[in-house]
Parts: sequence; structure tokens; C-alpha cells
Amino acid sequence: PARPRVLSGIQPTADSFHVGNYLGAVRNWVAMQETHDTFYSVVDLHAITAGHDPVALRHSTRVAAAQLFAVGLDPERTTLFVQSQVPEHAQLAWVLSCITGFGEASRMTQFKDKSVKQGADRSSVGLFTYPILQAADILLYQADAVPVGEDQRQHLELTRDLAQRFNTRFGRTFTVPAPYIVRDTAKITDLQDPTAKMSKSSSSPAGIIMLLDDPAKSAKKIRSAVTDTGRDILFDPEQKPGVSNLLVIYAALTGRSIDELVEAYEGKGYGDLKKDLAEVVAEFVRPIQQRTQSYLDDPAQLDKLLAIGAEKARAVASVTLREAYDRVGF
Ligand code: ADP
Ligand code: NA
Repeated sequence: PARPRVLSGIQPTADSFHVGNYLGAVRNWVAMQETHDTFYSVVDLHAITAGHDPVALRHSTRVAAAQLFAVGLDPERTTLFVQSQVPEHAQLAWVLSCITGFGEASRMTQFKDKSVKQGADRSSVGLFTYPILQAADILLYQADAVPVGEDQRQHLELTRDLAQRFNTRFGRTFTVPAPYIVRDTAKITDLQDPTAKMSKSSSSPAGIIMLLDDPAKSAKKIRSAVTDTGRDILFDPEQKPGVSNLLVIYAALTGRSIDELVEAYEGKGYGDLKKDLAEVVAEFVRPIQQRTQSYLDDPAQLDKLLAIGAEKARAVASVTLREAYDRVGF
């Protein structure tokens, strides 16, 4: 039987992914190549919903793609494409927006969260309709499964509702995608505020370990990570969120279990743990950085890989769009 198809996307909004993106999402994308028919997108259309700089966007889109290849997405097995190169995304999003209720869209909590800064009135309509574009991203590929973190559950629910509604109203067109819950997805917290998630929108860059940062810079951030006044290296996310986060990162990057690490660090101090973790990070990022750089050093080859990805994506997306257009009477 054919492998279940999966679709996921990542925004190119910073020049480097952080360890949270990698351990929480991208690492699983790589693993899913073994079990799924994988479609992954650098979602640059989503990246312009909250204001952006064109030169920076073009650059970070390329860097994002280079990093994704560098961490192990294999262009032979995966369709990796840049969203704006597949016009069907915007086209299907329009159709879906016409079957989405205004009230329904207004209930999306991510818009509420993200528009807090500018105020809802000053936020773009694109930020408001972002989940509808996301639904189009998924439905165009007839994806069976979508890997989701907690923050994306509501959007996937909307996608499922829209697929079912369209199918009911116009005739069976879309696969209704199921959430794919990844076991052992590491949730990485901010080094400076270990109760908050590590995020590119964190208040301080000191809290984020970037895959493409100079290891000396990451070592410094790890050294100054917030811990607590105790001395023992124990895994206790409630009482010791800082130390526990360091253990989670350490375990995930080395494949060692947390229990094993706690045992190995018995009688040692936070300084030892931080020093060793800095080395683990340095070793982990070195080959990724080298491979990313070699993709960026050959822009013609990177463009070619992305053009092939876009062509493979369009081969699927254009069939779905044509069918949806037929159904609605275009
Ligand atoms: P950010 O929160 O930095 O803006 P995104 O929202 O672009 O990152 O997330 C991209 C992917 O990385 C998503 O699948 C998200 O669930 C995952 N992710 C982001 N931050 C973390 C984190 N701190 N721990 C685990 N996964 C994360
Ligand atoms: Na986010």
C-alpha cells in the first residue's frame, strides 16, 4: 500500500532555525521520510503577514531551504518546495476563505495572541486569514496526516472542518487530514526564561540557541542559562525548569536518556553540565553548518533543487485545484 502522505511547513522568518524548531519539528520531518510520503514547504506566503523586509525574506527563504537539506531532507525522497513558487496555494485559499465564517475565523486564538502587539485593528487581514491559507497548504496535497504541536491544533481542526464542509457542499474533493502526534517531541524552553518556549520571538536572543550560530556564541548562552540556586542535576521541569531544559536538549542531541545523564552527572555541578552541553551543541551543529554553507555557496544548484521541488508539488497541487475549481463551478 502507498505510504500515508504528510505535509508540514515552516516559516523562513529568521536567518537560522533554533534548537526548538529542530528538536520539536524538523528532526521529525527527517525521520518521517522513512514512513511517509513527505511534502514540506518553506512557507514564505505566511511570512509576510506581519510586516517584513523583502531582501531579508529572500535571504532567509534560501537559508531555510539550505538548512532543511543540510539536516537530512533528501530531495530524492521528499518534496521540499517554497510556497510562493506554487501559485495554487493562494488560489485555493481564496475558495476556502469563501466557505469560512467570519465568526469561525475570529475564534482562532493564534490571531488573538499574535495581534496583541499591534492591536487587532492594525493587524493585516492576511494575519487574520492565515489559518485558511494553512488549510489550503494541507488540502492541496490530499495529506493524510499533519504533524502538529499544541499551538497548531486549532488550525488543523479548522482545516478538517473546511475539508468536510467543502466535500459535503460540493462533492468529495479533499482528504480530511488527521493530526499526527509525534511521540517524544522535545519541547525546548528559553534559556533565559525556562518557563517560556524557546521562540524566535523571545524577548532576548540570549535565550535561543541557533543552529547556524558560531558555537562560541552558543557556548556563552548556555553558560549564562538561567538555572536555580540548588546544586543537584535532576530532571524536574516544575521545580528545576532551567536544568531540566538543558537535560532535554542534551539528551535529544546525543540520543542518551535523561536518566542516564542524571546518573552520569551525580555529584557534578551545573557548570560541568553546561560546559559539556556546549560541546555537544558545537559538535552537533558543525556538520549542519558546513552542509548549509555548501548549499548556499552554489545558488544555481539550490535554485535547481527548489525548482524541482516546486514542479513536483505543482504536479499534485494543480490536480487538486482543478478539481476544486470544477466543483465550485469555475
Ligand atoms: P517560533 O516559535 O520560533 O516562531 P515556529 O512557530 O515557526 O517557531 O515553529 C516552527 C516549528 O517549530 C513548529 O512546528 C513548532 O511547533 C516548532 N517549535 C518552535 N519552537 C519550539 C520549541 N521551543 N520547542 C519545540 N518545538 C518548537
Ligand atoms: Na511561533
